Amino acid sequence: MVERADGSPEAKRSFTFKAEGVSRMSQQRFADIANFLIEFSKAPKKVGAVAPSSPYLSRELIFGHELQNANVVLEYGPGTGAFTQDILTNLGDQTKFIAFEVNPQMTRILRKRYPTMLVYEESVDEVPKVLADLNISKVDCIVSSLPWASFDRDTQDRILGITRSVLKDGGSFSTFAYFHGLALPSAQAFRRALSTYFSDVSISDIIWRNVPPALVYNCRK
Ligand SMILES: C[S@@+](CC[C@H](N)C(=O)[O-])C[C@H]1O[C@@H](n2cnc3c(N)ncnc32)[C@H](O)[C@@H]1O
Repeated sequence: MVERADGSPEAKRSFTFKAEGVSRMSQQRFADIANFLIEFSKAPKKVGAVAPSSPYLSRELIFGHELQNANVVLEYGPGTGAFTQDILTNLGDQTKFIAFEVNPQMTRILRKRYPTMLVYEESVDEVPKVLADLNISKVDCIVSSLPWASFDRDTQDRILGITRSVLKDGGSFSTFAYFHGLALPSAQAFRRALSTYFSDVSISDIIWRNVPPALVYNCRK
């Protein structure tokens, strides 16, 4: 029997589905935070964060890319996938999407969550080799969440050099920095380096609804 008024079996059923959805989401979020805390305690500089990024940061990070028209899109350091779903949702039908995540536990989670996605459990240092193996010469967009401020100058330069070399002319690159770390010499060096590797660099407002607050660099080659 289906009743139409509030409190009807149908209304109650739909409420239960929503409540289950919310609770599944919260469970996933808690599991992701626990994973970040564990992996951060093992390798703080490499993981670079104690919690996954928020949907607000995700939106800002993806905003400057034309994902729909891209042939190839890369994600650097997807972690548990805080930006991955937004990227996947906005890709064109023919777009090839490749992620590089160096942490084995994060890679396991990603592969389970997105079984058809191409995830390399490799450092982004391997990007040129992987692209050559896949017969890809240039990519259109790169979405990065690497912990740049934890990297020394040589590592920053090496990875930015790789990034520039694989990005097509006019291609887009975005990444973020935590607000509290902006004064660090390594964060300032990274900000300066961006304008030597890219012709156009813009900086977003601070995204307060992220733990910790962050800002986004949107760059174009
Ligand atoms: C700050 S976390 C961001 C994770 C996720 N995108 C988010 O925002 O919640 C940085 C991620 O980059 C990964 N990472 C660090 N160095 C890397 C490298 N050289 N190549 C690929 N991934 C790397 C870490 O394992 C970690 O998952």
